Amino acid sequence: MMGKFSVALLVLLLQLFSGCAGSQRFARAASMQFTHSVYNATIYENSAAKTYLESHTKMGIYVTDPTWEIRYKIISGDNENLFKAEDYLLGDFSFLRIRTKGGSTAILNREVKDHYVLTVKASERSTDLECRTRVKVQVLDTNDLRPLFSPTSYSISLPENTAIRSSVAKVMATDADIGTNGEYYYSFREWTDMFAVHPTSGVVTLTGKLDYSETKLYELEILAVDRGMKLYGSSGFSSMAKLTVRVEQANEHAPVITAVTLSPSDADHDPTYAVVTVEDKDLGPNGEISSLSVVAGDPLQQFKAVRSSPGSKEYKIKAVKEVDWDSQPFGYNLTLQAKDKGTPPQFSSAKLVHITSAEFQKGPPVFEKAVYRVNLSEFAPLHTPVTMVTAVPRYPHQNYAFKHSSDKNKFSINADTGLISTAGPINADISAQYEIEVITSDKKAATKVIVDVIDVNNNAPEFQQTSYKASVDENVPSGTSVVAVKATDLDKGENGYVTYSITNLSPQPFVIDYFSGVISTSEVLDYELMPRIYNLKVRASDWGSPFRREVEASVTITLNNLNDNKPLFENIDCEVTVPRDHGVGEQITTASAIDADELQLVRYFIKSGNDLDLFEMNPNSGLLSLKRTLSEGEAAKVSFHSLQIVATDGEHETRPMTMNITVITARKPVQVRCVETGVATMLAEKLLQGSKIHGQTEPEDNYMDIYSVNRYSPLFDESFPSFVEVREDLPSFLLHSSFLFQSFFPFCERTDGRNRWSSCFSDLCVHSCVVTLVVKRFSYFTCFFSPNQLFMIQMVLKTILI
Ligand SMILES: *[C@@H]1O[C@H](CO)[C@@H](O)[C@H](O)[C@H]1NC(C)=O
Ligand SMILES: *[C@@H]1O[C@H](CO)[C@@H](O)[C@H](O)[C@H]1NC(C)=O
Ligand SMILES: *[C@@H]1O[C@H](CO)[C@@H](O)[C@H](O)[C@H]1NC(C)=O
Ligand SMILES: *[C@@H]1O[C@H](CO)[C@@H](O)[C@H](O)[C@H]1NC(C)=O
Repeated sequence: MMGKFSVALLVLLLQLFSGCAGSQRFARAASMQFTHSVYNATIYENSAAKTYLESHTKMGIYVTDPTWEIRYKIISGDNENLFKAEDYLLGDFSFLRIRTKGGSTAILNREVKDHYVLTVKASERSTDLECRTRVKVQVLDTNDLRPLFSPTSYSISLPENTAIRSSVAKVMATDADIGTNGEYYYSFREWTDMFAVHPTSGVVTLTGKLDYSETKLYELEILAVDRGMKLYGSSGFSSMAKLTVRVEQANEHAPVITAVTLSPSDADHDPTYAVVTVEDKDLGPNGEISSLSVVAGDPLQQFKAVRSSPGSKEYKIKAVKEVDWDSQPFGYNLTLQAKDKGTPPQFSSAKLVHITSAEFQKGPPVFEKAVYRVNLSEFAPLHTPVTMVTAVPRYPHQNYAFKHSSDKNKFSINADTGLISTAGPINADISAQYEIEVITSDKKAATKVIVDVIDVNNNAPEFQQTSYKASVDENVPSGTSVVAVKATDLDKGENGYVTYSITNLSPQPFVIDYFSGVISTSEVLDYELMPRIYNLKVRASDWGSPFRREVEASVTITLNNLNDNKPLFENIDCEVTVPRDHGVGEQITTASAIDADELQLVRYFIKSGNDLDLFEMNPNSGLLSLKRTLSEGEAAKVSFHSLQIVATDGEHETRPMTMNITVITARKPVQVRCVETGVATMLAEKLLQGSKIHGQTEPEDNYMDIYSVNRYSPLFDESFPSFVEVREDLPSFLLHSSFLFQSFFPFCERTDGRNRWSSCFSDLCVHSCVVTLVVKRFSYFTCFFSPNQLFMIQMVLKTILI
């Protein structure tokens, strides 16, 4: 409005002014020149065609000579060919008027070029006078442009807890126009109570309470309205920008740390010193914990917070390396701080956690016992655990060791567990006690292990001889010592205490002193009636545990034969008739005497009655023969001879046996009639009785397994007869053989005097015996019996044959 008004005024003023300029006319007649060398002029942009420049100054030339015909021409500064210069003569002044061209020429645009400097030449037609001036053209602004947003869309995220009246955004628009034309106001296109935009600064402030649960997104349109819009009533002079506001859940709460300090066991190789729980009341990522850090108190960076599991709220404070407790004996004060995942993150307040070493809490290690006393069986094989030493409290990396390396020969120690085991043979016979000193690896604790080696029965008794030989005379009194055996045992105590026994299954006429090992006779021994060689099995046993050990030795006792028997004639009181013509040297009869001793041959001689030296006695055979003829000389006169014949074993002599010899003339063979003494039968019977007692078979008892246990109960051999029949009217000579059955059936007893045998074992009684069986057994026995017993059986046969 101002512009156009002032232009009109100006023109009017100019016209008045030019009218008053006539007084100056003469002063300037001499030359033609512009009133100023430079004029200031203005023109509005977008001016229509043939719009004149305005100037406060009167532009032009005083026409001092009325003949002048002055013309103006723009000679430079109008490259676009926008302007045209015109002259307008008013009185003595030729106004220079410059106007825009019309037509399709370009339009002034201040925003493109806001000033021009036009050089204008004035020329006078007739005098060729010329002069120039310059016109500085200022292109004036018109509100031709609307404001422009840059950028045109804005996006922000707002935590829902953003405080009211916080500035949350700033929009920016520009208007190329200048002055008030370039001014604009911001406003929301639609009314909102949540946000306000400052009309000029474009700062958007929050005016309401954000609530994520209600509205998560605001899409606002902001107008930038040109100030001139209202002035001119134009609606085109505004522009719009978009503002997108995302509401974020607020990270309202800071994480909160709670810590529980632990006393980790020293056995724990990866101890947890504290358990820290971090709580955050926010939901979503704002409530998640991003990290828990040790922010102070750990200059050596020995600790770290380790999440129990991914995403867990629980952390463990652990050592990342071996903790240097020595420089901080009272522990470390760690300051912990947690950070959540919110944007921006919230930090917890610092939390102090006091961490102490196990050793500080529990004191130095001490062995559970000052002295460990153990009993160790000397049987203990290699690697037998002996005992376990423990120092408490147990600290990690705490080891055990022997103080003296010499102990390693016999024992070993597990450095970690303290278990002591044997590493070599333990022998109580060498050392009954071992003392081992054990220390902890830090040498702060020591203990002593005393190992008492328990002697076990690891040695069997040992006889001084593997076999013994001895002899004893027959007829010595019962209880006579024969021989002493001795066994020794290296073990101590009962394990080495030895006792003796005779283990023959059949009774033997010997006893052994339980403690001294002296073997003595248990009855009077008779060489003739009893076995002459005894094979005793003598057992030496210790009293050890866990089991007894036993060893056997054989003792052979030979019975010495003494000449304790007189020879005895089988026949005595013989009456012999001999024909007188009995040839010299011919046999008459044989004397026979038996000596039970069998030591020497029995010798015979004629003690008396052979005064005429007619008879001859063979001393060895007892054969009586005729030495001289009975029919000549003195002998022919005698027909009766009474010989006294004696038999001797060299020591003992028989009583003289009478042999009455009657010489007869008749030629009859020699006749002998004697009285039988029954010596042979008697002797045989005696021997048989002896056999009955001692002739029992010695079972093969290979009883050599000294560790054996009594595993089996005895069983009878399958071949053992279950019953045997014996005829009641068994001939008496067969009864002599019945001892054989007794050999077989040691339980048989003679129950009455009437040839009735009853053999009772188990519930079985035997009443009679079959002869064939006897014979069978007999032959069997022939093989089985010892030569001594064989002799006896032959004796029986002999007796039976007689
Ligand atoms: C043109 O304007 C300039 C500065 O704007 C001024 O110095 C000068 O005197 C003016 N000229 C005229 C003829 O008014
Ligand atoms: C740790 O804190 C306790 C008290 O809370 C204090 O007595 C101790 O000296 C501190 N230790 C260190 C190493 O700072
Ligand atoms: C060792 O044995 C003895 C006797 O043999 C017994 O008195 C003692 O209690 C035992 N010691 C241990 C530790 O078994
Ligand atoms: C042997 O003869 C003597 C004396 O002549 C006589 O006493 C004795 O009885 C006779 N003996 C026998 C067995 O006839």
